[in-house]
Amino acid sequence: MTHPPPAALPPHIAVANHKGGVGKTSTTVGLAAAAADSGHRVLVVDMDPQGNSTRRLRARLPDALEDRAAASLAGILPAPARGAAASIVTPCGWPGHYADRIDVLPSDLDLELLGLTAGLPSAERRLLRALAGVVDPYDLVLIDCPPSLLSHLTDNAWTASDYLLVPCEAEYEAVQAARRVVERIDRDRHTLNPDLKIAGFIPTRFRANLSVHQTRLNDMAKISGPEYICPTKFPELAAMKTAAENALPLTECGSQGRDLAALFRDTYTWTRTQILRLEESAT
Ligand SMILES: Nc1ncnc2c1ncn2[C@@H]1O[C@H](COP(=O)(O)OP(=O)(O)O)[C@@H](O)[C@H]1O
Ligand SMILES: [Mg+2]
Repeated sequence: MTHPPPAALPPHIAVANHKGGVGKTSTTVGLAAAAADSGHRVLVVDMDPQGNSTRRLRARLPDALEDRAAASLAGILPAPARGAAASIVTPCGWPGHYADRIDVLPSDLDLELLGLTAGLPSAERRLLRALAGVVDPYDLVLIDCPPSLLSHLTDNAWTASDYLLVPCEAEYEAVQAARRVVERIDRDRHTLNPDLKIAGFIPTRFRANLSVHQTRLNDMAKISGPEYICPTKFPELAAMKTAAENALPLTECGSQGRDLAALFRDTYTWTRTQILRLEESAT
């Protein structure tokens, strides 16, 4: 008897840069909303112990402080059975189609402690193991990463991912940080994840009228090639902060917020095209 081929897994995309404040969480949350707007189901994995995507998506953790870690990735990742993440899947607390289509694997401060058990065999494969089967109903898995590079949390996030999206300001230190991301993937490819690919760089807080931003954008394009730079560039706009501060979808943050939401939809379309292009060039 022949078996049907296994259903394709959704793309697993880590959102990472070796720098804080460059827009990793804004990009994770914005892309999750864009995917939901286009009818897709999304699982957001919050691998940053700061828990910012958990909060911004209003994924509800228990009120009692002592119960929170157990309901988060901090509770299941120390010794996960295959598919252990099923027990902590939490719906997005935004209204309407977002609640139906976005789920979160929430974070908690205690996730910081996972590194203490980094010496266990295959410790960097724990997130991958916890996700097994849990990801099947989704069209997209987005993993929000901490700003660290040589960290056990980053190792787990990248081991579980197919692609990396790198939000990056067009400024010297952010571009250098993005370069270090690519260097680390190349250096540790064989031990960490031979299949991990850069999907692209997303220019954030971009000011087209600043010549230094144009210069640094050119530097960004030299890291992996101009075809890896997302043509949508995110301007510095107050609605991005309003959405983050109040844990709201951009679509509820006025006309500026709706404009930003449209930019995220363009970015999601571009990301999917990049993935198709990379899949085709790999076969
Ligand atoms: N394009 C933007 N315009 C205005 N504020 C932004 C923009 N992108 C990010 N921010 C703000 O900058 C701060 C850091 O962004 P965040 O996405 O949390 O970065 P990271 O996850 O990389 O640390 C947040 O307060 C966010 O609202
Ligand atoms: Mg963040």
